[in-house]
Amino acid sequence: MLVTARYTPNIALIKYWGNRNNGLRLPAADSLSMTLSEPTVDVSVEAAKYLSVRSTKSDGTEKRLSEAQIRRFQETIELMRRYLEALHIKEALPESLRISIHSHIPPGVGLASSAAVFSALARGVASLVEETQALAPEEISVLARLGSGSAARSIYGGFVTLESGEDNDIASAQAAQITDEHHWELHDIVVIPSEEAKKIGSTEGHALAQTSPHFIARIEAIRSHRQRDCIDAIQKKDFEKLQRVAEEDTTDMHHVMMTSKPPLRYLTEDTHRIVREVTSLREKEHLPVLYTMDAGPTVHLICPKDAADKIHAFAHSQKNCLIYATKIGKGATLLADGSA
Ligand code: DP6
Repeated sequence: MLVTARYTPNIALIKYWGNRNNGLRLPAADSLSMTLSEPTVDVSVEAAKYLSVRSTKSDGTEKRLSEAQIRRFQETIELMRRYLEALHIKEALPESLRISIHSHIPPGVGLASSAAVFSALARGVASLVEETQALAPEEISVLARLGSGSAARSIYGGFVTLESGEDNDIASAQAAQITDEHHWELHDIVVIPSEEAKKIGSTEGHALAQTSPHFIARIEAIRSHRQRDCIDAIQKKDFEKLQRVAEEDTTDMHHVMMTSKPPLRYLTEDTHRIVREVTSLREKEHLPVLYTMDAGPTVHLICPKDAADKIHAFAHSQKNCLIYATKIGKGATLLADGSA
């Protein structure tokens, strides 16, 4: 059986940064994101004797995967098998998998595809397993988390939390949907100042988070109020509150990154300039817009529908930047014809 799942990235408003267990990707704190409507990544999965992973880019050319990237798929499949055994679903997963990834993410757009790839892989694996036993969405989110922590959140559309849980059980961190995509139409205008690949990826970065003297205070802030405030802002569609909480959290995460040992500096002078300029535009024109940055220099400008045209014009006025416009999305689809 060949299964193809289509998934999209998500953008975090409360960022996941740091694990209590790196091997199992058990986060140190809750996080929260908005699933995007585009760009999509298709992943086809079928049973095989040996692992093979093929990846093609949006222009149809093949992307060569490094040994480390292939190893990550291998390790993810082994962890998925361990989790399914814990669910008493034994031998449902074939010996190995033939995985084909087709990314529709345009070249140079620094949108992380790993969330989309690993959630699509999890959905594909769940479909193979479903011949034996159906899995609930939160169980599929655990499968996705084992490949990439933030991938757990792309299992759902709309606004989604990844609840960290407490112990070292493989299943103890799961995603949950707060509201679907119809609740609040927020847009994400992505301003991409640099096409350079980042030097330290998220997986290595997570492992350094605890070396920052500010890490514990950040986790405490998320646990005591920030995550709850963010959920409340979304439920009440209170953009001002969402802006305050999300900007506080992205600043806080980058502070932790920059004070870890060694320091991780993902933001560039261009990032700071875009943030300064959008902040002054917001004050001048009373525009509802918030900025947030992941582990890279890219600035996500999130705004309600009626501000999107102005933010779009602002984004296009930025020199030497690629712009990608997307909005809140519905999450995954399984492609009926099985083709990517
Ligand atoms: C800054 O999910 O990319 O984007 O589990 O190693 O794949 P891995 O990490 P990843 O970390 C996401 C980091 C972030 C914040 C976020 O998306 O919450």
